[in-house]
Amino acid sequence: KMKKNYRIAVLPGDGIGPEIMEEAVKVLSLVAEREGVTFDYKYGRIGGIAIDTDGTPLPAETIAISKEADAVMLGAVGGPKWDQNPGHLRPEAGLLGIRKELGLFANIRPATMHSSMVEASSLKPEVVSGVDLIVVRELTGGIYFGEKKRYDGPNGEVAEDQCIYHEAEVERIVRVAFDVARKRQKRLVSVDKANVLESSRLWRKVTERVAADYPDVELSHMLVDACAMQLVRAPKQFDVIVTENMFGDILSDQAAMLTGSIGMLASASLAEGSFGLYEPVHGSAPDIAGQGIANPLATILSAAMMLRLSFGMDKAADDVERAVWSVLEAGHRTGDIAADRSKAIGTKEMGRLVCEALSGSA
Ligand code: NAI
Ligand code: MG
Repeated sequence: KMKKNYRIAVLPGDGIGPEIMEEAVKVLSLVAEREGVTFDYKYGRIGGIAIDTDGTPLPAETIAISKEADAVMLGAVGGPKWDQNPGHLRPEAGLLGIRKELGLFANIRPATMHSSMVEASSLKPEVVSGVDLIVVRELTGGIYFGEKKRYDGPNGEVAEDQCIYHEAEVERIVRVAFDVARKRQKRLVSVDKANVLESSRLWRKVTERVAADYPDVELSHMLVDACAMQLVRAPKQFDVIVTENMFGDILSDQAAMLTGSIGMLASASLAEGSFGLYEPVHGSAPDIAGQGIANPLATILSAAMMLRLSFGMDKAADDVERAVWSVLEAGHRTGDIAADRSKAIGTKEMGRLVCEALSGSA
């Protein structure tokens, strides 16, 4: 019998990107063995390394590899070496470019606070312990992509940013959020500013309509300012939050910081169908690159999201996440999350421990 095969484009990028990606690939290869599937990895260059090698942050070959794949794993891009480059020769241009090329419209960022990690948060342990929420952000519409204008008016310079949402754009992102909620606690909070913004009133109307297809999911609406308050006052009330581009940009960073540890934050960006790009929230950390001390968990947790959202391998995803939590519970920490840095372990050791925990699980 033919084994199920998944094609994964692997784009390690710059700085700590290659180090953390190596550990994520080890975990994935172990998953493949356990689940009786095969993963076919194709490596591509993006960011600074691609500028140096190919003269562009996003070579055509990288786009091709990514489009042919079932999912993309991305490390991080950027570094001081390229900071003075002109815009089109900057590493971030590669990131923006690939997101656009792949039609990624849904950004999904979990904020999970495991009880063994509460000391990392700036909030009280009883407030953050047990937080387990996901922010689903619309990624290609709204005010960031609306028409921009600058002109002179009678009272000095004028600036305009237009905020447009189409019904179909709202519907597809809201459906992603309902689907995510369905696999979790089945509680969805749609965040808008419907008391002021017309685009929010359309958002609310479409969300209500789509909700009819998800009678098992409990939908509520919250104004964005109220949500900002509730996220720090009582974050445990949230399961899945869905919101438009700019609100999501702000709220996803705010929610992420409930956990206090950048080296643990995973993300997914989805296109139509099951295709997605998975990457840690953090950057290329040039200050610690090449030292073997970076935390690979954000990338490993991003790989778990890929298993769940692009490959439908829910149990394997749960297993990887449980392996990560068990390693943390046993007290193992990389330097970024260690209370006592002298006891910190390195990137490879963290990857090895996750693999060991995964091997030991049923
Ligand atoms: P950063 O996230 O790379 O680093 C911020 C701080 O967190 C640093 O002290 C770093 O050592 C630490 N850190 C980050 N990830 C870590 C990990 N996995 N383990 C241990 N410590 C970790 O953000 P920064 O310093 O603002 O940017 C550095 C470069 O990364 C810049 O060139 C920036 O443009 C780029 N960047 C790229 C992103 C991406 O590829 N998606 C996102 C953010 C920044
Ligand atoms: Mg942001």
